[in-house]
Amino acid sequence: MRTALTERLRIDVPVIQGSLGPWSPVKLAAAISEAGAIGTLGTALRSAEQIRADIAALRGLTDRPFVVNHTLRPLSREAWDATLAEAPPAVSLALGHRPDLVADAHDAGALFIQQMHTVEQAERAAAAGVDVIIAQGTEAGGFGGWVSTLTLVPQVVDAVAPIPVAAAGGVADGRGLAAVLVLGAAGANIGTRFLAAEESEVADDWKRRIVEAASHDAVKAQFAPDVLPSPSEGAYDDVVPRVLRTDFVERWNADPDGARAAASDLAPSGSSGRGGRR
Ligand SMILES: Cc1cc2nc3c(=O)[nH]c(=O)nc-3n(C[C@H](O)[C@H](O)[C@H](O)COP(=O)(O)O)c2cc1C
Repeated sequence: MRTALTERLRIDVPVIQGSLGPWSPVKLAAAISEAGAIGTLGTALRSAEQIRADIAALRGLTDRPFVVNHTLRPLSREAWDATLAEAPPAVSLALGHRPDLVADAHDAGALFIQQMHTVEQAERAAAAGVDVIIAQGTEAGGFGGWVSTLTLVPQVVDAVAPIPVAAAGGVADGRGLAAVLVLGAAGANIGTRFLAAEESEVADDWKRRIVEAASHDAVKAQFAPDVLPSPSEGAYDDVVPRVLRTDFVERWNADPDGARAAASDLAPSGSSGRGGRR
């Protein structure tokens, strides 16, 4: 199928596998790219050395286009520079926007994909010359905003035309893809469904929980931004992760002051914990 997204990214299937943060295995990105869509390598909590090794491993598994993802919560400059030195076909940026990073990517010959959650954020990204926009509704797994995919996507499509828009948030099968194409998107960016894929490395119990979960089993982890590392310059405010409801999430959502006090214990291992803006 050909759309403005497949043309821009030089792929055959209008689907981007969104980064799954620290849970983004090379073999998943390779399988997605080999299937004609485009796979994404995550860089969260990965060193520059690991990123170089991941890109080399991915290139060993596919010669098709791929994306390397970074976020501004926070941005590791070393990791960003290591990524661009490898001249990937495309990079994506989430949870904030910085025009200087768009220029860096273009200087390195990489397309720039910007994820966003409001029309105003999309307009800013378009003005900075991004190549693809991911319009992510509040249904999405991981960090997200508050506007639903159904209402966000057509507004963004109109605001940034002719930049191709990939819709994200709640797309998990062909019906979802067809629906967002009708809204004017040029494809979909899918995350949660791919966490449950065979090539994903999360534990089988988690894959089963994802597949069996009902829509109301997911909640916003309101406490999370207060315990995760501080965002970098340019980060979007008012984004919160959407996750499966667990006892852990229920406990700390009910006690935000306690979560802030316990931040260093609750932050993921390998992260630097809370600090000032970088
Ligand atoms: C566990 C998990 C981790 C994620 N980590 C990242 C990340 O590091 N960077 C990013 O841009 N998006 C991240 N996302 C968002 C996805 O790339 C994608 O945009 C989102 O999952 C799309 O919505 P869906 O879950 O309804 O398919 C993550 C999503 C999940 C579920």
